[in-house]
Amino acid sequence: MKPMLNIALPKGRLGEKVYAMFEKAGFGCPSILEESRKLIFENAEAGVRYFWVKPSDVAIYVERGAADIGVAGKDILLEYTPDVYELLDLKLGKCSMCVAAKKGFSDDRNRTLTVATKFTNIAKAHYAAEGRDIDIIHLNGSIEIAPILGLSDVIVDIVETGTTLKENDLEVVERFVPISARLIANKSGFKFKTERIEQLRKSLAKLVEEI
Ligand code: PRP
Repeated sequence: MKPMLNIALPKGRLGEKVYAMFEKAGFGCPSILEESRKLIFENAEAGVRYFWVKPSDVAIYVERGAADIGVAGKDILLEYTPDVYELLDLKLGKCSMCVAAKKGFSDDRNRTLTVATKFTNIAKAHYAAEGRDIDIIHLNGSIEIAPILGLSDVIVDIVETGTTLKENDLEVVERFVPISARLIANKSGFKFKTERIEQLRKSLAKLVEEI
């Protein structure tokens, strides 16, 4: 019997693409494709168990060892700096971390800039590197509303297609970090299951080259 590999996948469209890659890499679990509200799926023969978790929670499951490996966005890894190994860039879910503002916004550097974001640590580090004084407003979602209602001057958020900004009359001021999905591993899980995890990483790396 192969040792069971516990894998946390981000629920949603990205997770489905990621699962398709894992399946091609030889780590399939057919029951995951059945319509259901279940969150845990196992293929005992292949020695894999998958969990669907909220994308921003994947790194927590992996860091604490509830999952051996998982797939998390680089945005989450930069924001929360979990103590995990980052094994591979899957080149899926590509987007950018951006500063955005109302069209025509110009920054008065004599004033403190108010920044609304879900990514407090990323935003602080970005402006600290520029030596810019900011006042951070932490929001949990729908960040684009903040500059429209005058809650903040700018937002720091991920932009994928740019549609959300466009439809809310906002524009990108600066793109500063490229983001994509990363394969991550729990540090002790990696030690005990190195061979299987490395086998998966190598197969996925080949598939990434083909994208
Ligand atoms: C993310 C992000 C933007 C949007 C960008 O939001 O926060 O709002 O996607 O995508 P686009 O450039 O393709 O329009 P998410 O869907 O995660 O929802 P949220 O409002 O909860 O942040």
